[in-house]
Amino acid sequence: MEGTPVVQMRNIVKRFPGVLANDHVNFTAYPGKIHAVLGENGAGKSTLMNILSGLYKPEEGEIFINGEKVDFKSPRDAIEAGVGMVHQHFMLVDTQTVTENIILGLDEPKFVLSTGEAEKKVTEIAEKYGLYVDPAARIWQLSVGEQQRAEILKALYRGAHILILDEPTAVLTPQESEELFVILREMASQGHTIIFISHKLDEVLAIADHITVLRKGKVVGEVDPANTDKAQLAQMMVGRKVLFHLEKKDLEPGDPMLEVEDVHAKNDKGLPALKGVSFKVHQWEILGIAGVAGNGQSELAQVIAGLRTVEKGRVVIAGNDVTNKGPLAAIRSGLGHIPENRTEDGSIGTMSILANLILKSYRDEPGWFLNYSKLRKRAEALVKEFDIQTPSIDTEARLLSGGNLQKLILARELSADPEVLVAVHPTQGLDVGATESVRRHLLKQREEGRAILLISEDLDEVMQLSDRIAVIYEGEIMGIVPAKGADRNTIGLMMAGTRIEKIKSS
Ligand SMILES: Nc1ncnc2c1ncn2[C@@H]1O[C@H](COP(=O)(O)OP(=O)(O)OP(=O)(O)O)[C@@H](O)[C@H]1O
Ligand SMILES: [Mg+2]
Repeated sequence: MEGTPVVQMRNIVKRFPGVLANDHVNFTAYPGKIHAVLGENGAGKSTLMNILSGLYKPEEGEIFINGEKVDFKSPRDAIEAGVGMVHQHFMLVDTQTVTENIILGLDEPKFVLSTGEAEKKVTEIAEKYGLYVDPAARIWQLSVGEQQRAEILKALYRGAHILILDEPTAVLTPQESEELFVILREMASQGHTIIFISHKLDEVLAIADHITVLRKGKVVGEVDPANTDKAQLAQMMVGRKVLFHLEKKDLEPGDPMLEVEDVHAKNDKGLPALKGVSFKVHQWEILGIAGVAGNGQSELAQVIAGLRTVEKGRVVIAGNDVTNKGPLAAIRSGLGHIPENRTEDGSIGTMSILANLILKSYRDEPGWFLNYSKLRKRAEALVKEFDIQTPSIDTEARLLSGGNLQKLILARELSADPEVLVAVHPTQGLDVGATESVRRHLLKQREEGRAILLISEDLDEVMQLSDRIAVIYEGEIMGIVPAKGADRNTIGLMMAGTRIEKIKSS
């Protein structure tokens, strides 16, 4: 790449207890360009960018911004130098408005503005880049895509011209991702430097001007997207060939293990989210739920897991009516649940990996404390089987990288040998290698006779793994079709609210 670099990171070294997260990393970025950082889970991507944004201090190495050496002691110093970051897990205050969040923490006199003035400035920036979000809305009222735009606005409001986004599209729908890319291209064309981390190779190839690949803390490749492809990137990231297509055996479905009958439920805002949803999932079967995010998928999973009130209708797991009986009844009937929100519902950050892995199983083992060494062995085996990258099973769960936390939850839920498995976005945030292995695990569960409900916004994933596909739209099932021979067009129409009967008759 030509010209004067905006960012130069030289020989960056960062250690955590038992981990060399960045091992003499060099990273360069140019103005007006979109830089992608790729790498498997735990490769050190977030760490490197947390260093650039002043959150962590490296043990070794130097950082230059516009040719000048900097020494960031805090994110505030980085912001002063024009570096802003949107984190993997958003850092907004739910009960405050967009504008309040944006001016939060700006206590220098020059920032003492009335909310009205601040709101005006926010609107100006929003219009300049097409970042549409209501500045007076409270965070909890916003969709994930809107919350992300609020985070980007926050960085721009503080004068960021180097914008780092850590897995910005992991939580977005394909449509929202497209919108984000338009915004990123616009920012780059106005001279900003964009650095973004992603596991989605197709989008990286489509949008990046340059790609840096990390593996186990080291840079293993600097590539031009024009001269590479998915297979090569995947191989570079994980150090082996990755299969993008998996074989699925033909299996006859058995007895229904999960029955959802005319279920009605409300969302967090008290509005109807599920309006008479019915379906059955059988042994040896994966039923995929396709739909645009926010059409009732989250509420559906919560209702089955006993985490949300059923207003009307029934949920039956392995023959037991568990309607409104709470999460324990669902677990006891044989439910495994890979929840959508892995930091809030899926794990306890301040507890060890060991404790998180045995959260559920200790209930079944009377006198489990006597079997402490047995449990440790089991946890060690799971860490190995699911390839969870951690210095030890005594490490706190909150210190795991995003993808490794997801693997931890999977390991716990799959190893509990459930009758019914509800998997919500099971591969979100996972690298290509881990994605392949999770999909294999799900197919294996199917071959062992489990009934699996797969909720995913990744239509490729739903089509690849499912036996049947149910499409949800505004809390109603638009139709259920066999996955074999299903055509994207029909599914797309259902996702937009047309019922299958109508499509068939036209
Ligand atoms: N604050 C911390 N304390 C201890 N270890 C940490 C901390 N932050 C990260 N690590 C460890 O450093 C390594 C690199 O983590 P990092 O979060 O940078 O990975 P990543 O490439 O962003 O992965 P992912 O794709 O899963 O988000 C991991 O082994 C992780 O467990
Ligand atoms: Mg990360």
